[in-house]
Amino acid sequence: MPIAREMTAMKGKRDRAYVSKSSTQKNDYLQRAIPQPAEPIFELAAAYEADKNPKKVNVSIGAYRDDVGKSWVLPSVREAKIQLHSDPFFGHEYLPIAGLKSFTDAALKLALGTDDPTLVGAVQTISGTGAIRIGGEYLFKVAPRATVYLPSPTWTNHYDIFTDIGLSVKYYRYYAEGTCGLDFDGMYQDIKDAEEGSIILLHACAHNPTGVDPTIDQWEKVLHVIQSRKHFPFFDMAYQGFASGIPEKDAFAVRRAFSLKIPLFVAQSFAKNFGLYGERVGALCFADTQIMKLKSHICSIVRAHFSCGPAYGARIVAKVLNDDNLHLRWEQDIATMSSRILKMRQTLFDHLLRLETPGDWSHIKKQIGMFSYTGLSTSICTKLVKDCSVYLPLSGRISVAGLNDSNVAYFAECVDRLVREEQNPSRKRTRL
Ligand code: LMR
Repeated sequence: MPIAREMTAMKGKRDRAYVSKSSTQKNDYLQRAIPQPAEPIFELAAAYEADKNPKKVNVSIGAYRDDVGKSWVLPSVREAKIQLHSDPFFGHEYLPIAGLKSFTDAALKLALGTDDPTLVGAVQTISGTGAIRIGGEYLFKVAPRATVYLPSPTWTNHYDIFTDIGLSVKYYRYYAEGTCGLDFDGMYQDIKDAEEGSIILLHACAHNPTGVDPTIDQWEKVLHVIQSRKHFPFFDMAYQGFASGIPEKDAFAVRRAFSLKIPLFVAQSFAKNFGLYGERVGALCFADTQIMKLKSHICSIVRAHFSCGPAYGARIVAKVLNDDNLHLRWEQDIATMSSRILKMRQTLFDHLLRLETPGDWSHIKKQIGMFSYTGLSTSICTKLVKDCSVYLPLSGRISVAGLNDSNVAYFAECVDRLVREEQNPSRKRTRL
């Protein structure tokens, strides 16, 4: 959990090189590997696949599932694929280092509302993770001593990416356990107190893992303190459309920072809002003066990491966003996904209310986007996985998109039983 890692991590790349003490041969490089802990989200996905329990539920990974629990190919994406494949000249050439221009321009318009090359630029990346990596690599090159401030908690990979690059990482307060909402005063104060020129990682919308976003007024205050402290906002926008159901609305914070002329990065992922998880479609967008110089530097980093991005997913996104009909269809697809998630929040809440599960569960309805931070204890989460075949990480985060009409009652019953058991251990019952 990121909270447990709340410490300053300053790791120079060279300091992290591993030299085996028992090394006898100069070329035993492959024997110097150190086994690493499994990545919990992907480990849970594999355990879910292997589980034979017909009642099993997967609410671990942040991936949309339809109302029968299947992954969903968006109708707008399906149509774009048909159109692409009907082109006899659909080829497989390399993209430019900066990526497919019709894609990066569309990505910029979606994030910042403009693709004016004098104001903004973008390079195609390996999804949002790659955008964070490339942005982080650039920042490390130009400001190796800068500190990245992450919200507490955040997507665990943020910590891993920035520390792997060699940047120093600290946390700002974000989530208030008592209210299952935003600790706005803590967030504001920590950003204000951060050393001038810090890099502030912000979830643009639908915060992962908590589902808690600042209000418009709170964003205004945060952006003004970022500006007055000369910080650098690095937005992670992996869920555009999932917070409000309207992509433009979800870009509020990013566009507001841009309108305030704050230099910024936006790491954009098209995994969730296009359902293109495995195609790894993303972009690193930037706004500042001297865009060409910046773009040239960032392109050199892309070249050294993966040469240029993959073409297929970028072509699909470009086709959808640049075609009026498909764009409209995509907005309907986003509304379909976000409204089903909202319905599941309500249904889960209603079940817990009907069962009179001890506790206040209103946060399930108040939190937004794909995730809910349930507040379930580590021990309940462990039992949910082991005893009920309900797969979720120990943080208690659930991907609400993993619930549907067939499994939500079972999920609520498991939670109800375990919450009661935790309150009164003598009531322990057998497996549901
Ligand atoms: C998640 O948080 O579940 C997703 O963003 C998938 C991932 O890569 O962790």
